[in-house]
Amino acid sequence: MNLMRRWLLFMFTGLVFAPTVMLWAQYTPRDEKLPGEPVKQPLPYSHKVHVGLGLKCLDCHKIEKPGYMAGYPQEATCMACHASIKADSPHIQKLAEIEKSGTRVPWVKLYAVPNYVYFSHEAHHKEAKIECVECHGDVAQRDVLFKEKSTAMTTCMDCHAQRQASNNCGFCHDPHPE
Ligand code: HEC
Ligand code: HEC
Ligand code: HEC
Ligand code: HEC
Ligand code: HEC
Repeated sequence: MNLMRRWLLFMFTGLVFAPTVMLWAQYTPRDEKLPGEPVKQPLPYSHKVHVGLGLKCLDCHKIEKPGYMAGYPQEATCMACHASIKADSPHIQKLAEIEKSGTRVPWVKLYAVPNYVYFSHEAHHKEAKIECVECHGDVAQRDVLFKEKSTAMTTCMDCHAQRQASNNCGFCHDPHPE
């Protein structure tokens, strides 16, 4: 390759990659303390107790459109049991009030990605068959949840590299149609 062609190739590569490298240089992981502090939730709900009763993750966290969030269960799902179970507990009375008023229990969210990041439970759990425990820890054994696993960009990218999923910037940062 003569010097001129090598120079042109170098310039071209630079033009293509420079914006990416510049964006990349702006990336500083947000502070993420792991494990996170246990969170005071509005009701003393225990995964250990409820999963111990034989309830399945997807009974309460239905992975649905739009966005394929896992979401929180409808209060009616809880009241199917609690209309009779522990109905005299003040916590259950609070739950019953919320359900009757048609509002939602204000659960504190532990796992979140910024809205410029696309993430889908459908793609990861239902299609790629990754278990909840891999990204959320041993929830079934916890009375109180706390953030156990990282949601940093590097964590996403490490697994994508291992599992041969794409690490193109646009894969996670383009607004997807659904
Ligand atoms: C399959 C039936 C069932 C469902 C559905 C269910 N629970 Fe429970 N829940 C129980 C049982 C059984 C206990 C344990 C009762 C005991 O300690 O004797 C319990 C205990 C509780 C307690 C502790 C109450 C206290 O004062 O001791 C809370 C709070 C609670 N559940 C909230 C919820 C919420 C919120 C939902 C919905 C997300 C829910 N439960 C769904 C059966 C259920
Ligand atoms: C009876 C309904 C019920 C079942 C069954 C259930 N969950 Fe939950 N889940 C909840 C409720 C209510 C919350 C909010 C309170 C809390 O964080 O403990 C929650 C919160 C979570 C969170 C925290 C999400 C966030 O960012 O706030 C994760 C992760 C989670 N559940 C995973 C699981 C997994 C994994 C299973 C199965 C092993 C499971 N859940 C089974 C009701 C349920
Ligand atoms: C590949 C990693 C991964 C897997 C597997 C996974 N989650 Fe998540 N989960 C996340 C991320 C990342 C978020 C934050 C998403 C957001 O803010 O948009 C999240 C958020 C949640 C939330 C909070 C509410 C919501 O939808 O944002 C719940 C509840 C939850 N996950 C439950 C589950 C359950 C139950 C399973 C298994 C059926 C599961 N997750 C599997 C990574 C994962
Ligand atoms: C434990 C491994 C693992 C982790 C952690 C993980 N992913 Fe993935 N991701 C995958 C696999 C496997 C696929 C499927 C790739 C395919 O189908 O080619 C995938 C697919 C995707 C897709 C394509 C979804 C679609 O609709 O086709 C996006 C976007 C994505 N991941 C974003 C993220 C983000 C953002 C995070 C971090 C918050 C993350 N992933 C964490 C393994 C992971
Ligand atoms: C596998 C998914 C994934 C891929 C691929 C990915 N990112 Fe990210 N990116 C994320 C997640 C998740 C966050 C948010 C992390 C957090 O919560 O701090 C993020 C955050 C960022 C931020 C904001 C950082 C800040 O200061 O808040 C920038 C800039 C960024 N990414 C650039 C890029 C560039 C450039 C590429 C391509 C080289 C890329 N990303 C590829 C998942 C991804």
